[in-house]
Amino acid sequence: MRFLCLITVTFLTGLAFAANEKVPLDPTTGMKMGADWEIVRNHCIACHSPQTILRQRATEANWTSTLEWMQTNGGLWKLDPAVQKTIIKYLTTHYGPGDSGTYRRPPIPATLMPPNPYATDARLEAEAKKQEGLRPRPPAPR
Ligand code: HEC
Repeated sequence: MRFLCLITVTFLTGLAFAANEKVPLDPTTGMKMGADWEIVRNHCIACHSPQTILRQRATEANWTSTLEWMQTNGGLWKLDPAVQKTIIKYLTTHYGPGDSGTYRRPPIPATLMPPNPYATDARLEAEAKKQEGLRPRPPAPR
């Protein structure tokens, strides 16, 4: 029984990947033309290039918070909850964390950054801790 389940899961996963890879790209925007892609196009490329979206990979929670961030700070209009759900589903399906080869790199730790002439409180605190030996120094350049 377990063996059968394993085979089924492997088969379905394979199908899902195959289905995702075959999604054709829209020649104008570069978006994957999966289900509901036009809804996403209509709402999401009025202010910035589609590439702003397509180069991101994120979980459902992160796509949701990106949208909410834009509604608060970027002028994105309030979306009908059903439309928002559709948009998030499209983004998570086609630009989810799955193919993380193109994931954004994590932020560089403050200790590895060069001295910042425009010091902020956080930067000053990090520099002070570095002086006290509370933070590791970056490796010496070769
Ligand atoms: C009313 C204008 C507007 C619309 C419409 C809009 N955005 Fe944005 N978006 C912004 C602004 C402003 C920024 C931040 C400026 C920048 O990074 O260029 C941004 C940035 C982003 C980013 C980059 C965030 C980051 O961490 O760098 C993503 C991803 C994004 N938007 C996705 C979307 C999606 C998905 C939609 C469709 C639901 C959408 N945007 C619709 C204004 C908009």
